[in-house]
Amino acid sequence: MRESTWVSLLLLLLLPAPQWGGPQDGRREPEPEAEHGPLQPFDLLYASGVAAYYSGDYERAVRDLEAALRSHRRRLDIRTRCARHCAARRPLVQPGSGPGAELPFFRALLARASCSRSCQSQRLGGPASRHRVSEDVRSDFQRRVPYNYLQRAYIKLNQLEKAMEAAHTFFMANPEHMEMQQNIEDYRETAGVEAIQLVDREARPHMESYNAGVKHYEADDFEAAIKYFEQALREYYNEDVACRALCEGPQRFEEYEYLGYKGGLYEAIADHYMQVLVCQHECVRELATRPGRLSPIENFLPLHYDYLQFAYYRVGEYVKALECAKAYLMFHPDDEDVLDNVDYYESLLDDSIDPESIEAREDLTAFVKRHNLESELIKSAAEGLGFLYSEPNYWISYGERQDENRVPLGVNTEGAEVHGLSMGKKSLPKIGRDLREGGPLLYENITFVYNSEQLNGTQRVLLDNVLSEEQCRELHSVASGIMLVGDGYRGKTSPHTPNEKFEGATVLKALKFGYEGRVPLKSARLFYDISEKARKIVESYFMLNSTLYFSYTHMVCRTALSGQQDRRNDLSHPIHADNCLLDPEANECWKEPPAYTFRDYSALLYMNDDFEGGEFIFTEIDAKTVTASIKPKCGRMISFSSGGENPHGVKAVTRGQRCAVALWFTLDPLYREVERIQADEVIAILDQEQHGKHGLNINPRDEL
Ligand SMILES: *[C@@H]1O[C@H](CO)[C@@H](O)[C@H](O)[C@H]1NC(C)=O
Ligand SMILES: *[C@@H]1O[C@H](CO)[C@@H](O)[C@H](O)[C@H]1NC(C)=O
Ligand SMILES: *[C@@H]1O[C@H](CO)[C@@H](O)[C@H](O)[C@H]1NC(C)=O
Repeated sequence: MRESTWVSLLLLLLLPAPQWGGPQDGRREPEPEAEHGPLQPFDLLYASGVAAYYSGDYERAVRDLEAALRSHRRRLDIRTRCARHCAARRPLVQPGSGPGAELPFFRALLARASCSRSCQSQRLGGPASRHRVSEDVRSDFQRRVPYNYLQRAYIKLNQLEKAMEAAHTFFMANPEHMEMQQNIEDYRETAGVEAIQLVDREARPHMESYNAGVKHYEADDFEAAIKYFEQALREYYNEDVACRALCEGPQRFEEYEYLGYKGGLYEAIADHYMQVLVCQHECVRELATRPGRLSPIENFLPLHYDYLQFAYYRVGEYVKALECAKAYLMFHPDDEDVLDNVDYYESLLDDSIDPESIEAREDLTAFVKRHNLESELIKSAAEGLGFLYSEPNYWISYGERQDENRVPLGVNTEGAEVHGLSMGKKSLPKIGRDLREGGPLLYENITFVYNSEQLNGTQRVLLDNVLSEEQCRELHSVASGIMLVGDGYRGKTSPHTPNEKFEGATVLKALKFGYEGRVPLKSARLFYDISEKARKIVESYFMLNSTLYFSYTHMVCRTALSGQQDRRNDLSHPIHADNCLLDPEANECWKEPPAYTFRDYSALLYMNDDFEGGEFIFTEIDAKTVTASIKPKCGRMISFSSGGENPHGVKAVTRGQRCAVALWFTLDPLYREVERIQADEVIAILDQEQHGKHGLNINPRDEL
């Protein structure tokens, strides 16, 4: 019976506890939302929705949660509009010279402030300060937690499609949440809505259009590709305005809080302004970052112009192709392929057009100009005010350009080639690739245990002594150190099972903690170093021809909760595949989003064995028949290809704590985890400033 199946699945999922007080904390209730009345603050609506959820009033939970989401969205919109409006209405002016010369500037500044204030309070129907919310609530909205409550509430009301939408929206920003993926499949089946296109209610238009552009481009439909990329660019620049407006919100002066902040006029302005400016400068990363990810898509904005130059060329619009190619060169002036293209496009122009007169596109020129001015300003301020800043490479582009799409032109072009981009064409399914194994293990002490055959599958390997006892202890203590201090997972039950606690830390976070002296820096670096060691071994053992890149690295500990271990029949981590959605009934693994389709190899590196249960298992595609079982221990590493050929899971941990470093790799440089680059940046800073303690250059919006 379906109903009981998904009801029990729902029970498996523990709701995160509301962090700002439960149902009975006596907060005032928000008035029901009036169409034209003042906007209700979203934190009040959210609290009320969650309280209603726990009291079993699902209609009200849905009403208030939906209202909270609307209010949240509307507030962002109001801030953006007001920032735009006041920037236009109240321009800042240059100070003159002589006594009182600064007054016109400050007059303009004050006028801007009062414009912003009256604009916002008018549209919000009350003072903007009413809408300031705690960090926790902000972070919940950023992580889309309200959708987690919503999906359950909709289920209780038997509104399956809405539940599915909410679940999908949550899952897009929390892709590690395997259970949600299962829910979506279950809802789909229960509702019999096979064909329904899952809607991400928080989709960011510029990314949607970009993806649509890529899709059409890959299908050689260049007219449509142009339409979508152009739309993506318009949306990108709009989003950029919104992102920058949000940066103009209140700032925190954490470092000074305990001292009682007492900056003088110029210091206080400088402190605040620098935070705003750095935040705005970082919008480049923010806009290129997919929901739920720490790291941006590499080279995101330039890629728009790269695709466009080729697409315009293909539809015969050579002037536009040139404008876009030249725009791309503003980011990467030495890109030979695009330089060639420029020459070639110029040769195609009508004689009446002077090639020199065609410049890089205006939208981008203005953007880059401002971006460069900001860089300069931040760098010189850093020097003058004594903080540490190293400019990230925002347009970094790794690996070779994908040139499978080289298009040899027709007869009259004397062998000219035009270079476009191709991303999708090479990612053949695993089966299509030449599978090999048995390459050198590179490091002297590693012992080979089992190959694929001995592990009863394909592309699997088990190795021992990848870490020494001492390294295991050291890593384990990093794990404990970080988890003691706590992060988003602290004290929470596992996303996979309510009978265990689940805690994790990324390399970047470990380094940050090391930098702050909360865990030994040397140990944090060990985490960074051993993940690189693992990467090299996997790349070598499976004899991969191209570079294997990090896709995600995560240290995870699962701790059995005492008193909840009797007659457990659930797994610590349900059976799944890493790059496709396992569909045991159909004997298929669907390689499509929201699975991480770009992951190619996975590895787990263990650091302890003082726990019960927690075996790693491979199964058949039926997700039931166990084909191999591995007991973790210090220094043991299991690695395998990430596809449907390797469904796997973790058996229940019934006593103690099981810690491991989970690593996912990709062969596609486009999906290389840029968090790794940030970690590299941190390492560079550490080397540079071994003994000092300075501000860390990390995007403040990263969820560290
Ligand atoms: C890897 O490279 C070797 C020699 O360079 C080549 O023979 C082989 O076909 C390549 N394998 C794959 C999977 O591309
Ligand atoms: C291999 O093991 C020996 C003895 O335990 C140790 O001294 C050496 O550093 C190890 N080598 C590596 C590369 O870990
Ligand atoms: C592989 O399968 C055989 C036969 O079922 C089994 O005895 C063996 O333990 C399996 N290998 C592993 C590593 O679990």
